[in-house]
Amino acid sequence: SPSDPNLVERARAAKEKLGDKVFVLGHHYQRDEVIQFADVTGDSFKLAREAAARPQAEYIVFCGVHFMAESADILTGDDQKVVLPDLAAGCSMADMATAEQVAECWDVLTEAGVAEQVVPVSYMNSSADIKAFTGKHGGTICTSSNAKRALDWAFEQGEKVLFLPDQHLGRNTAVRDMGMSLEDCVLYNPHKPNGGLTAEELRAAKMILWRGHCSVHGRFSLDSVDDVRARIPGVNVLVHPECRHEVVAAADYVGSTEYIIKKLEAAPAGSKWAIGTELNLVRRLANRFASEDKEIVFLDKTVCFCSTMNRIDLPHLVWALESLAEGNLVNRIEVDKETEAFAKLALERMLALP
Ligand code: 13P
Ligand code: SF4
Repeated sequence: SPSDPNLVERARAAKEKLGDKVFVLGHHYQRDEVIQFADVTGDSFKLAREAAARPQAEYIVFCGVHFMAESADILTGDDQKVVLPDLAAGCSMADMATAEQVAECWDVLTEAGVAEQVVPVSYMNSSADIKAFTGKHGGTICTSSNAKRALDWAFEQGEKVLFLPDQHLGRNTAVRDMGMSLEDCVLYNPHKPNGGLTAEELRAAKMILWRGHCSVHGRFSLDSVDDVRARIPGVNVLVHPECRHEVVAAADYVGSTEYIIKKLEAAPAGSKWAIGTELNLVRRLANRFASEDKEIVFLDKTVCFCSTMNRIDLPHLVWALESLAEGNLVNRIEVDKETEAFAKLALERMLALP
């Protein structure tokens, strides 16, 4: 259980025994019981940079989901081992684009005569295979904190972008931050022949959006925004860009998890906030800022945890740390060399964005 003092003590002891050999990274959506053991917490971008900047630690224990651990493995040295405390901690959005589907999509773009104008931009929330595809075809990775810069860069390289796999981050960034219209975007459905698009539609489009989404953020609706505004007069609505377009369009502020935290840190006492992102983070922020008289509520009435982020709990973390302390390398995440080389190219393009 979260407050099991025995487990807390065991995690502490194992971490102490490992000393500098271990570095624990924690994504902001992790449970409180896990986040207390993170050496660094962050959004996807910050954690990728932290992993790349940690050459002395032999083990990187990644408290987050599978694609984050893969990215950490790609960015760290060969002698460093990345460990994911529960291998079932995946991401349903990342699973919505497979290597076969994306290769098929590229064939469709080639047949429509547009592939040469297309630069792929893939959200961090994708498998190493998709990142490798992106690197191979001259594209970059992005996160929710640099999506606009990634698109600016991509449109300097080509005329069109294939955005994978989150349609919402792609659409929201194109329309909200880049001044494109909804008509500039088309939706590629991997379950339909030719993505459900005609060659004319592909030729006319600027943004070809993959039909993927986050089911956690997909739960927020325009009704949630209207309800909270009626319930709490003067409330500021702050949401993650994985939310649907109409939610983002109705919100006051939009940004990554790190942005959400910074925004609340800078908020004046007496201000009121409704947050549209994962519940572990929102609860932690509500508790943290209660004493500063900042009212923070969850944007929706229904509970909205990310079930895969939540798979990393204290028992799994204790098991991973104790195993490492005893010299047993468990749950290693290792990307094969060929995939790694191309995926790294795409990730390094992201890290080099202005
Ligand atoms: P960020 O922490 O980069 O905002 O991403 C949120 C997310 O959904 C990760 O899966
Ligand atoms: Fe994936 Fe959504 Fe969970 Fe993030 S919150 S890890 S995008 S399912």
